[in-house]
Amino acid sequence: MSTFFVSTPIYYVNAEPHLGHAYTTIVADAIARFYKLNGYETFFLTGTDEHGDKIVQAAEKQGKSPQEYVDKISSIFKNTWPGLEIEYNYFIRTTSEKHKKVVQAFLQKVYDNGDIYFGEYGGYYCFGCERFYTEKELTEDGLCPDHLTKPTFLHEKNYFFRMSKYLEPLKEHIQKNPNFIWPERYKNEVLGLLKEDLGDLCISRPKSRLTWGIELPFDNNFVTYVWFDALINYISALDWPDGKKFQKFWPNSYHIVAKDILKPHAIFWPTMLMAAGLPLYKGLRVHGYWTVDETKMSKSLGNVVKPLDLKDKYGLAPFRYFLLREMQFGLDANFSEQAFVNRLNSDLANDLGNLFSRVLTMTNKYFEGIIPAPETLSEKEMEVQNIGLESVANFQNLFARFLFAKALESLWEFVRYLNKYIDDTTPWALAKQGKTNRLQTVIYTLLEGLRKIAIHLWPVMPSVSEKMLKQLGVSFSLTEIELLKESKEWGLLQSGLKVAKKSNLFPRQELKLNSNKEQKVGAKKIEQFISFEDFKKLDLRVGRVVEAKRIEKSEKLLEVKVDVGEDNPRQIIAGIAKYFQPDDLIDKQVVIVANLKPRKIFGKVSEGMILAVNEKDNMALLTPSTQVKPGAKVS
Ligand code: MSP
Repeated sequence: MSTFFVSTPIYYVNAEPHLGHAYTTIVADAIARFYKLNGYETFFLTGTDEHGDKIVQAAEKQGKSPQEYVDKISSIFKNTWPGLEIEYNYFIRTTSEKHKKVVQAFLQKVYDNGDIYFGEYGGYYCFGCERFYTEKELTEDGLCPDHLTKPTFLHEKNYFFRMSKYLEPLKEHIQKNPNFIWPERYKNEVLGLLKEDLGDLCISRPKSRLTWGIELPFDNNFVTYVWFDALINYISALDWPDGKKFQKFWPNSYHIVAKDILKPHAIFWPTMLMAAGLPLYKGLRVHGYWTVDETKMSKSLGNVVKPLDLKDKYGLAPFRYFLLREMQFGLDANFSEQAFVNRLNSDLANDLGNLFSRVLTMTNKYFEGIIPAPETLSEKEMEVQNIGLESVANFQNLFARFLFAKALESLWEFVRYLNKYIDDTTPWALAKQGKTNRLQTVIYTLLEGLRKIAIHLWPVMPSVSEKMLKQLGVSFSLTEIELLKESKEWGLLQSGLKVAKKSNLFPRQELKLNSNKEQKVGAKKIEQFISFEDFKKLDLRVGRVVEAKRIEKSEKLLEVKVDVGEDNPRQIIAGIAKYFQPDDLIDKQVVIVANLKPRKIFGKVSEGMILAVNEKDNMALLTPSTQVKPGAKVS
């Protein structure tokens, strides 16, 4: 049996799982499931990275020992994934005894080969990044480019990995294997980095400065640099050096990471493997970064998206679908709850959910829920078959190449085509006209198309896919599904099976806002509805301010004269003095309620009201988007 290995980065335990972690882990889960559907034996690895300064600092902040702290956060990661239908085969922790032993064995091997040496190093050390910077890498003001803090100049003795020895062979490997690092932009980025003089890698930290790490097997005064320790997780999880799993899975191994950790994965790790005499992993797949509402996600901005919150609000399947559909693998993408809800409603509720429920309803109505046998196929059915087979074949090719958004787009062409096929063949008319044979063919074609779609959706939305298949009367069994067959053969659905009475896979959803203040104001509950007739009673007009002045002894009020196309400008007493200088209002276009009964305010007659939005410290006047004539009616 062919094998497939996929890993996520092991996440630092100084933050709880968020959208970014969820994306990588869902991608890994989806690709592992895809290979399972293709009959591969798969191994999906994820876990947590638990050593280093950062973790010690985070533990201190919470008043916990490092061990207590890493146990807590690691279990949050571990327990989050099943809730997102993520089925990993192994969850690795770098503080486990098994991993520590493998790291030491690896270090010893490289040391024995002569590729680790003891040397002195002086450099700018950033504690946030846990690494040394060269002067060239710092900002103009000599700050860490990531944290914008002043690094500390440290002079210390350390162990170094002779990385420089392997940079040329690495370059050759990358050039000879164009799929080693993909998408191409990242391959080019790495080749660019390799043009610089990268030198050797400092791989130890003296215990006088950091004890929370794995002791070097050849010098117990030092612990291992956290990246050297972490990268080895990919083989310690496979029981290297002696385990069968390593033999079995390593030859077809893929790492998924985001662009932030390209360098350690594309340069440190392969050169480490070379030094240990091990074959390189097969491929590195690098994706872009998620922003939230066009801004970087960060704790201090309070815009960190928690995957489980979204699942609770809108359901898991739409969340997984959205992430895979929205991000073009390799590029950055933006998350907004509105875009998420829009996709849910359009692609899932409208296109797929509706199609599925219509077809089940018709099968029940015309054939008592029993899948009919198809009769003579017309050109229309041939067309459905061609488009269906092509769409699933494209889906498979694209998915295998990590082009998830495009793969789903291709599948949705088929979904939409089936909707169109219903409109074209009008099954209800066929039923009325008693054309039962034709109706059988049409309904069978629809059900078979939906079965194919359901199967292909399994990597993306596992439980929805299984539910769809069950409702189509088909049992879901991984061992019986062969994707390749699905893209070549039409008509594998057996007639005579019974489908479910009805289905509501994806109820339409409204945006449920609760996160930020601005949105809360926008989402203020409507207290009372008015009829259209009531609304029509309002006479709203655009006017131009021709005069504005303060009213003596009033802080709030301005006396404003507004030209609304009548013989004389209207006098309006408006409570806007705190926000506007009278002169700034001259010539501004405003919207007024023109048929408000005149009333006296502060002893002056007010003949209408100026419309404005009044937030806590801010006021905005309503104004037309382009110049219109004074007196123009708003409707
Ligand atoms: N511990 C290291 C990795 C060691 S692997 C041997 C680390 N951990 S991390 O917690 O910072 O995780 C970084 C990874 O989390 C990214 O590479 C990516 O997979 C995921 N993401 C975190 N934030 C992200 C976004 N905003 N967008 C997309 N993915 C991001 O680095």
